[in-house]
Amino acid sequence: MLVTRNTYLLQILRLSKTATGHTTTGQVVNLLSNDVSRFDKVLMFLHYVWIMPFQTVLLTYFIWQFVGISALVGVGALFLQTVPVQGYLGKLTSKLRLKVALRTDERVRLMSEIISGIQVIKMYAWEKPFEKMVALARKHEIDVVKQASYLRGVYFSAMVFSERMTLFLTLLAYVLLGNHITPEKVFSLAQFYNIMQLTMAIFYPQAIQFAAEAKVSIKRLEDFLSLEETVAVTERTGNSKLGITISGVSASWEANSITDTLSQINLNVQPGQLCVVIGPVGAGKSSLLQAILKELPLYKGTITASSEVSYASQEPWLFVGTVRQNILFGQPYNPKRYNEVVKVCALKRDFELFANGDKTIVGERGVSLSGGQRARINLARAVYRESDVYLLDDPLSAVDTHVGKHLFEECITSYLSGKARILVTHQLQHIKYADHIVILNN
Ligand SMILES: Nc1ncnc2c1ncn2[C@@H]1O[C@H](COP(=O)(O)OP(=O)(O)OP(=O)(O)O)[C@@H](O)[C@H]1O
Ligand SMILES: [Mg+2]
Repeated sequence: MLVTRNTYLLQILRLSKTATGHTTTGQVVNLLSNDVSRFDKVLMFLHYVWIMPFQTVLLTYFIWQFVGISALVGVGALFLQTVPVQGYLGKLTSKLRLKVALRTDERVRLMSEIISGIQVIKMYAWEKPFEKMVALARKHEIDVVKQASYLRGVYFSAMVFSERMTLFLTLLAYVLLGNHITPEKVFSLAQFYNIMQLTMAIFYPQAIQFAAEAKVSIKRLEDFLSLEETVAVTERTGNSKLGITISGVSASWEANSITDTLSQINLNVQPGQLCVVIGPVGAGKSSLLQAILKELPLYKGTITASSEVSYASQEPWLFVGTVRQNILFGQPYNPKRYNEVVKVCALKRDFELFANGDKTIVGERGVSLSGGQRARINLARAVYRESDVYLLDDPLSAVDTHVGKHLFEECITSYLSGKARILVTHQLQHIKYADHIVILNN
């Protein structure tokens, strides 16, 4: 199961951006919390599929020793009641399992959407209608869960019933054949049937049922694992002298769209050079950086980049933790470098305002910070990481002109001076300092 889980998590990381668009959060959560755990259960019971026939033959032989031919009546009845009936019930369970899974996906998706948009819902006082929607989704799910539970109830009642029933049938046949029953025989038979029905009526159907459920889960996992992955088209070499070379690149987010997101881009940024990318909104500036990061597949041309690439996304991204953890992002703490980065990213003043300096906890997605603070922490994280190439997606948009000037002069042109840098920006006053200018236009 651990292996499955690992494969699964790796796949999440490898999913192409297009495939991510088609996968909902609910589905991802449900696959991990419900489907993967089916492997646990099925492995516990699966052996009874081969144990059951062996045991049946052996026990039938023992019972035969006591009551002769009547043994076949009891065992036959038990067999008929278990294998075809339970087999059918197993099939039914697997169908229900698929239904439950789909509805759970739906409900979890709805809930996570509501949680992420709770502020809007509260602001417009939309709680009531959303409550109704959730209640409806739950009801849909519970309806199927209920059916599955009834089915399980039938299983369990059959277990209690079958042991007595088979014993009764055997003894009935035995007496009708003109024999006398003795306590010695009855109690021994009761023991044998007890063991036999445990395997035949409990473990074997469980095995079938879990196997059926696991089959559904495997199919769901398989579908997920075979989603489109990002293909490595960008060449990464360990050579830090390389910078970035983009030659004749064309790429598009959708496989068969009419217009390309990027078409015929040529660019060469050497270490120590700054390339500024400008263009109207939606021109493909972020997409160019995504192509360098191997997220956007190229259908023409090549990109060669150094292996160490640092990236600051356009949307600041923060996780729950201290400000410092957000900047270090797993890198070792180097006080000298850290203080310098904090200074050039104009975060010193913010740290003085925070209650606990850089040990202040940022809430989920950085809710307790201002937009500008989030953007600068996002930038500081990229800058703190020692790399050959820095890709900065519009880090100056969320800050005022004064701070923007500071970031551009102190951080981008001085602190990172020896590195290859690509800066996406809308602020044209900076382009005079650039070594290359790329103008993207639809
Ligand atoms: N993950 C994605 N999946 C599919 N299409 C995308 C994706 N990201 C961007 N696009 C499309 O690519 C085009 C270019 O978007 P991009 O984000 O590169 O623009 P941009 O130049 O960075 O704009 P802005 O200045 O607003 O940041 C848009 O038409 C957008 O719809
Ligand atoms: Mg962008």
